[in-house]
Amino acid sequence: MRKSMTYALAAGALFGLIGVSSAQASDAEASMLANTCNGCHGPDGSSYGPAAPTIAGMNKFYLVESMKAYKMGTNRPSTIMQRIAKGYTDEEIDKIAGFFASKEFKRIAKQDTDSALAEKGKAFAKDLCESCHEKEGYAAEDYPILAGQMLPYLRNNMMDFASGIRSIDNNPNMSDKEKRKKKRSIADLQEKGGVDAVLHFYASRK
Ligand code: HEC
Ligand code: HEC
Repeated sequence: MRKSMTYALAAGALFGLIGVSSAQASDAEASMLANTCNGCHGPDGSSYGPAAPTIAGMNKFYLVESMKAYKMGTNRPSTIMQRIAKGYTDEEIDKIAGFFASKEFKRIAKQDTDSALAEKGKAFAKDLCESCHEKEGYAAEDYPILAGQMLPYLRNNMMDFASGIRSIDNNPNMSDKEKRKKKRSIADLQEKGGVDAVLHFYASRK
């Protein structure tokens, strides 16, 4: 009786140890993989600006889909990310995405934004963007964070959506109805001349 309990305790301790050490090993691997990204995306994925976007705190699903879309290159144009994404297996992408998703989106870059424009943009954003990019663009659950993202990056991507080079088909979570809504919301914004205002609004969020 006593002996079997000792075995049970020893086995428990051993499995406990294995559990901890493999978790630590995969944490270490994820952070090692992520080191390559930090050179451009900033410490733990929060950008010093201006060219690379912040990737910290985005939802894991979105990060995975983005890397896969870059890899394919069909509906997610990039200057550099296709070459980078191609260097990773799906399993590695999963780990890297998990790493950055667990970090906080920090707004450390100084951005030159126009406060009058930003104020004007607030109303447009509420009207046309808030239904998906909730909490004034801070929400990360289902869509990418826009609040405090780098202004040139936001602008490039808005224009990519508007021209159709970047497609929201990247995100299989969305229904057809929502896709149409998104297309319409950018077109409405352009018609109302609100593109700059909305971009300054999101970029100015602290
Ligand atoms: C040489 C600089 C550089 C490196 C290194 C780099 N990136 Fe990027 N990343 C960029 C740039 C610039 C963009 C904007 C798209 C483009 O022009 O390629 C971007 C965009 C992204 C985006 C899109 C963000 C969004 O909001 O949709 C993700 C995700 C991303 N990178 C992940 C990574 C990961 C993960 C790594 C490391 C494996 C990495 N990047 C390494 C420069 C870099
Ligand atoms: C119907 C939902 C919906 C609406 C409305 C919407 N978006 Fe989006 N937006 C998305 C989705 C989904 C993505 C991510 C697409 C992908 O996975 O590539 C996205 C991505 C973006 C991106 C790129 C972010 C990044 O990190 O790469 C920008 C910029 C953006 N939206 C701006 C806007 C603006 C500005 C408005 C309002 C005029 C708006 N969106 C309205 C769903 C929406």
